[in-house]
Amino acid sequence: KRLILVGPPGSGKGTQSPIIKDEYCLCHLATGDMLRAAVAAKTPLGIKAKEAMEKGELVSDDLVVGIIDEAMKKPSCQKGFILDGFPRTVVQAQKLDEMLEKQGAKIDKVLNFAIDDAILEERITGRWIHPSSGRTYHTKFAPPKVPGVDDVSGEPLIQRKDDTATVLKSRLEAFHRQTEPVIDYYSKKGIVASLHAEKPPKEVTSEVEKVLSQ
Ligand code: AP5
Ligand code: ZN
Ligand code: ZN
Repeated sequence: KRLILVGPPGSGKGTQSPIIKDEYCLCHLATGDMLRAAVAAKTPLGIKAKEAMEKGELVSDDLVVGIIDEAMKKPSCQKGFILDGFPRTVVQAQKLDEMLEKQGAKIDKVLNFAIDDAILEERITGRWIHPSSGRTYHTKFAPPKVPGVDDVSGEPLIQRKDDTATVLKSRLEAFHRQTEPVIDYYSKKGIVASLHAEKPPKEVTSEVEKVLSQ
């Protein structure tokens, strides 16, 4: 299947992705993760993206379309994929459609992580991640066995630089202004499935499974 996960910061896209990936054997492409890796490695792409990311603004369409175009060429992504955090503007959605048309492919489903803004600050400020695996924890909702330590590798967990209440405000503004129109774009094609993303993680997983089994 070819899937898109869309939703505001903290809505649970990154939490559900590995579960979907394991069950359906898809390639998982998260533009946020790829950009953070580029920033950490100080590549030319990372240097260009850093400032916008720290302010909670979107990186330019050309940069992210370029990374996705490149990443989708991987053999593992030919039969299906999960896009987490892309497309985030209508221009990105149109570019993606063009890329897929060339392969005679199309998006099967857009999973919309619908949730009220008010819940997101607690989720974002309590998040801890294990950078190399992408495993995500939360001090209250999904605590690691030992505080600050990854359950599997024993390596330290970190917090994202943009996970502050102040930067979250800009990220939410970008979501409502630039990304909600993407949901309308796919609604017109009749492929959006909305989830109750405020529910506990396991219940969200069940909703995802129900949608994907249809
Ligand atoms: P990105 O990395 O995509 O961040 P985001 O969209 O802000 O989304 P998050 O990763 O914050 O949220 P999530 O939904 O994955 O939440 P999670 O599952 O971790 O993008 C970062 C930046 O990169 C952007 O601001 C932009 O600058 C740039 N960028 C990326 N893509 C771009 C693009 N296409 N175009 C332009 N710029 C781009 O969950 C959050 C927390 O809540 C965790 O602690 C988790 O444990 C907990 N939690 C999860 N689910 C539940 C639940 N059901 N109940 C209780 N707690 C839960
Ligand atoms: Zn994420
Ligand atoms: Zn809105």
